[in-house]
Amino acid sequence: MSSRPADRPSDVRSNLRERLRAETRPAHDALDRSLDLIERPLTRGEYTRLLARFYGFHQVTEPALESALDPSATSGRSKLPSLQHDLRACGITDPELGMLALIDRLPPLTSLPAALGALYVVEGSTLGGRLIGRHVKANPAMPDDSCRYFNVYGEQTGERWRATCDTLEAASDPHTDDEAIETANAIFARLHGWLMKDFRLGA
Ligand code: HEM
Repeated sequence: MSSRPADRPSDVRSNLRERLRAETRPAHDALDRSLDLIERPLTRGEYTRLLARFYGFHQVTEPALESALDPSATSGRSKLPSLQHDLRACGITDPELGMLALIDRLPPLTSLPAALGALYVVEGSTLGGRLIGRHVKANPAMPDDSCRYFNVYGEQTGERWRATCDTLEAASDPHTDDEAIETANAIFARLHGWLMKDFRLGA
């Protein structure tokens, strides 16, 4: 007889979050290496282009996640106001904001598992964001108060991440978790290409 009763939560819960972490790690680390935001300080132009690319990413993913997921997973989590603020601080005008390119060729985010994979990538980005934010703030080339996006949840980052992990656990289903992981990897790959295009041009 098993010493771990089957009705204990640790036994019955699936481990989508742990699988996402392990199975997207190569894609995350490849993106981290390409962006090289910690070792190599950004120029102001590079930072503005990076924010513009994230703006094009979140403009597409946020409405898709709001349509596919329960409001409790997405409400109060928009990164667009912070990105707009930072882009304006970097000198982007409102007409220019409206003309920034939107990411294309993302996988469809209409099914629940696909949306969970996307939620993982989007919300997980706030963890590394805090580290990146500290480097951006310490960089004298950056305009004042131009770094809200990379610290979007401030002191609530850990609490909000735990809530996202709870959402992933609650919705985990061994029959569909593979789709969530495939989608997360596809998003990392597409975002990698999207963020790196014309990024390190200097100025
Ligand atoms: C130079 C760029 C990046 C660096 C240095 C970085 C760094 C980090 C660090 C240090 C963590 C762990 C934080 C912690 O456990 O407290 C983390 C987690 C994470 N980051 Fe990044 N990150 C970067 C870019 C990104 C981007 C662009 C995305 C996606 C849009 C992303 C998605 C994630 C995810 C999903 C996690 C959660 C991993 C888990 O399951 O625990 N990261 N990152």
